[in-house]
Amino acid sequence: MKEKIAKIEKEAKEALEKIVDKQTLNELKIKYLGKKSELTNVLKDMANIAKEERPKIGSLANKVRNELEEKIKEKEQELEKIELARKIEKEKIDVTLPGTKVKKGTKHPVNSVIEEIEDLFVSMGYTVESGPELETDRFCFELLNLPQGHPARDMQDSFYITDEYLLRTQTSAVQARTMLANKEKSPIRMICPGKTYRREDDATHSHQFTQAEGLVIDKNISFADLKGTLEIFAKEIIGKNSKLRFRPSYFPFTEPSYEVDVSCFKCGGKGCNLCKKTGWIEVLGAGMVHPNVLTMCGYDPEKYSGFAFGLGLERIAMFKYNIPDMRYLYANDVRFLSQF
Ligand code: DAH
Repeated sequence: MKEKIAKIEKEAKEALEKIVDKQTLNELKIKYLGKKSELTNVLKDMANIAKEERPKIGSLANKVRNELEEKIKEKEQELEKIELARKIEKEKIDVTLPGTKVKKGTKHPVNSVIEEIEDLFVSMGYTVESGPELETDRFCFELLNLPQGHPARDMQDSFYITDEYLLRTQTSAVQARTMLANKEKSPIRMICPGKTYRREDDATHSHQFTQAEGLVIDKNISFADLKGTLEIFAKEIIGKNSKLRFRPSYFPFTEPSYEVDVSCFKCGGKGCNLCKKTGWIEVLGAGMVHPNVLTMCGYDPEKYSGFAFGLGLERIAMFKYNIPDMRYLYANDVRFLSQF
């Protein structure tokens, strides 16, 4: 019996030495210490041993059992350590390596101009309004004193969707919307930046472009208010030393109407290639709101007056950032856009 135990012990210890993974260690544990192990069987056989031998054999078997348990535990810990070390080695990261750069987007130049204009006019008490890009003929033309068949409709090549609906050619449509929604309830001071559409496409025109419309309606609004407001606009948005020039012009929704030029910010008015040697650059259309428009939109022209203006924001962005071709603004070329 003693030899049997010694043999089990020797075998188990030798097997234990060779073990390099947890699974075989577990199998070994079951084999030598489990319920059906040889060691357990030895103890079960105790009945067949001489009485005086029993305590000796019993304690020997227990000793071996305890020893094996201990050794297995040690092996277990050893394997865990090896495994951890292997894991650490495998998952090692070099914190001194440079990280992957996250590319940040930049503001589109037209959006920057929109934000600047909104900030400026909000600081003067204006509200920021918006209207639908798919507009009705009524708001885009009729209420702005451009009835069906009016020759001035030819000034704007339109994308008609149906006889009634078109992609708005001008943010002026929002003038009519704002006045009709208000109808003499309160004075109006609004600015409306937004997308507009016309059937044209070249270096200085795009089929889709951005305008900002301004409208002020109140009692006793005069041309002086329009002039003062636009002077502030030019100085704040275009350049501190900007001067303005009002040229008489024609728009159906204003009377009188003007095209407004700003002194060339490249040459300061001396004449260069940007201003085509004139010293002036045209930036916007403006005028005093036509009495017909006031009447159609719910305001009594005997009591109320107002001014309006509209400008193309791509042009402003092109001047400000020295962009030679309007199409760059919409080519979605990251090399271009990331410069701003
Ligand atoms: N809507 C005009 C255009 O697109 C610009 C304009 C001119 C707007 C005079 C106005 C204005 O409000 O009073 O060409």
